[in-house]
Amino acid sequence: MNPRERLRIAVQKSGRLSEPAFDLLDRCGLRFRRSRDGLFCFGEGEPIDLLLVRDDDIPGLIAQGVCELGIVGRNVLDEFSRGTDAGPELQAMRGLGFGHCRLAIAVPQERAYDGPASLAGLRLATSYPNLLRDWLRRHAVQADVVTLAGSVEIAPRLGTADAICDLVQSGATLLANQLREVDRVLDSEAVLVRAAQLPADGRADVVELLLRRIEGVTRVRGSRLLLLQAARDCVEAVIAALPGSPRPTVLQMDGQPGQVMLQALCPDELGWRQLEEIQRAGARELFVLPVERALA
Ligand code: PRP
Ligand code: ZN
Repeated sequence: MNPRERLRIAVQKSGRLSEPAFDLLDRCGLRFRRSRDGLFCFGEGEPIDLLLVRDDDIPGLIAQGVCELGIVGRNVLDEFSRGTDAGPELQAMRGLGFGHCRLAIAVPQERAYDGPASLAGLRLATSYPNLLRDWLRRHAVQADVVTLAGSVEIAPRLGTADAICDLVQSGATLLANQLREVDRVLDSEAVLVRAAQLPADGRADVVELLLRRIEGVTRVRGSRLLLLQAARDCVEAVIAALPGSPRPTVLQMDGQPGQVMLQALCPDELGWRQLEEIQRAGARELFVLPVERALA
């Protein structure tokens, strides 16, 4: 395969999305050899390589055709799309179920806040000027947006801003800087992004293959396979006791016409209480198994 028929995925080099992104790709069966400078990973099985970059650069790299896919926070993607006319070159494929955080407004602890109007006339520091301006416009608030590349949380203490608009995950950064979260601009998680136009070579097929695997991994993430036995006349009650209303498979048991075996994919972890309830409904021999991947 010609070197550029290999697929290239942009992934955050180091940050909140790096580890879960690598973990996802690993679960998809991809193995890599990292270059000495640590910026490139060569795919050993499938023709898929990684480019390790700053998260903010990921949408641009896809829009320019340097990479076909990327794993990036919805916050970074939306900020990029609002700030350029290259937005249509990108397509968000699916949420990946990790990297949950929010873009939020925070003010110094002692400052009063009664809704967006309280921000009128203030200086707001952020690395997300497009998203913030949009939000201010939606709330008909006029404020000064001060764009900073990083360390947004210290701007109020330095006196360069009155409040901030920044990502919050645990809230530890805000707490450490005596700021309190008062409003939410955007809920975010990691998303898989692709170039709207894929080159007319083998790469579109590789994207398809990868998507199916990602689907197979994310769909069952956290799921459990429940196996149990029950008397046939208890089956209705047992099914009613299953959490998340899965559609179970009911299997005939050889030589035991009154008994069935039931298997169900449950969307969440099954706790003891839930198992005990299912048992009370008539189930026995219950087994809970982790699910690694699925191929429909
Ligand atoms: C964000 C944000 C805060 C921190 C908040 O930065 O700018 O510094 O995370 O997280 P917490 O609520 O758990 O303390 P991020 O790590 O995304 O780095 P970046 O903005 O430089 O990419
Ligand atoms: Zn960043």
